[in-house]
Amino acid sequence: MPNCRICGGATTEYVDFGRQPLSDAFVKPDQVNDEFFFRLAVAMCESCTMVQLVEEVPRDAMFHEDYPYQSSGSSVMRKHFELVARHFLDTELTDDDPFVVEVGCNDGIMLKAVSEAGVRHLGVEPSGAVGEMARSKGVKVRTAFFEEETAREVAETEGRANVIYAANTICHIPYLDSILRGADALLKPGGVFVFEDPYFGEIVERTSFDQVYDEHFYFFTARSVRAMAQRFGFDLVDVKRLPVHGGEVRYTLARQGERTPTAAVAELLAQEEERKLADPATIEAFGASTRKIRDDLVALLEKLKAEGKRVVAYGATAKSATVANYCGLGPELVEFVSDTTPAKQHRLTPGTHIPVRPPEAFREDYPDYALLFAWNHAEEIMANERGFREAGGQWILYVPEVSVV
Ligand code: SAM
Ligand code: TMP
Ligand code: ZN
Repeated sequence: MPNCRICGGATTEYVDFGRQPLSDAFVKPDQVNDEFFFRLAVAMCESCTMVQLVEEVPRDAMFHEDYPYQSSGSSVMRKHFELVARHFLDTELTDDDPFVVEVGCNDGIMLKAVSEAGVRHLGVEPSGAVGEMARSKGVKVRTAFFEEETAREVAETEGRANVIYAANTICHIPYLDSILRGADALLKPGGVFVFEDPYFGEIVERTSFDQVYDEHFYFFTARSVRAMAQRFGFDLVDVKRLPVHGGEVRYTLARQGERTPTAAVAELLAQEEERKLADPATIEAFGASTRKIRDDLVALLEKLKAEGKRVVAYGATAKSATVANYCGLGPELVEFVSDTTPAKQHRLTPGTHIPVRPPEAFREDYPDYALLFAWNHAEEIMANERGFREAGGQWILYVPEVSVV
């Protein structure tokens, strides 16, 4: 077993999802023989309790010119990030020369509002095509991976930042030692490093095992984030639970001694302790619930197939690569996946090769059942697709358990 990526401690493996493809590598029909596979498995550090993947996928294999995920595809997320921008503009970005750096700005969903407010900003984003979309919204973008060297360069050329912010990106980065040294080099005195990512407590609570895929290298808790922060000269000074993407936490780090931790930090730490979130038995139970969902979902889909029902999936999420490959769901069980993202359409899902089609294909000829891969956007999607249920269709959910609604 590899040692902990954060503290070097011994790790123990708990859940094995087997051979998996890159979750966002939607394949052209003539490229099905060139796919990259790795072993997806989750371990926990016996020392600092950081939950992490056992195998690391090279970053350039995941984040490159054609990385297809566009943050602005959800209206709920557009609203969420507008509020994030507004919050920073009102609180942290109020000195004479405010400057905010966003790590993984994607298509500019958050920085657009900062740019419109005329505040100095920089997005650091390695994926070329989405970075270009941000530029077209007036956002300043550096096409690069954020790491210590990038942070030092930005500090030299642009000056230091009041805020470094990242959403759904820090948990994607195995080399967090470099990120935290970079944050120290780039932040002004009194500055904060703020990041929000799926919360391990919520993943366990909902058995949302599909949050585990190549890009999600870490699964944070307040306890593991605080231990990591302290290792690199920071304090965890605030935490906030967020309802988006199936339950996240926003962590705020400041240099040691610069800010007093809020009561919310102690509260979340106590809650985690009480729930025994870092106990091996808790992660083992999560593994057992995961296997039950897999067995129930496969049984349901095979029964529907035997009854001659049509099943289509909704949302070609990165998460669904784990579900489809772990459960062995191919085009014989799921006719196609409906998705609004142009860069995913007319391709095949990684590993299992289910065709991805635009939502019009779904609406033209409703199936009997829709397997909701994008369950984290359930409210938005079910509202937009009201017609499906009115026509007698039913949704299949698999988190927190398999159900038909
Ligand atoms: N922040 C957006 C959001 O929350 O919707 C995008 C999240 S997306 C899942 C992760 C983004 O992080 C991708 O656009 C990817 O290219 C970027 N990324 C990955 N590694 C990075 C790194 N080292 N520095 C900056 N961005 C990175
Ligand atoms: P995410 O769970 O990583 O945000 O990915 C959501 C996927 O679902 C993304 O490929 C876009 C797609 N999607 C739709 O097809 N229709 C929708 O209404 C929404 C909100 C997302
Ligand atoms: Zn560790």
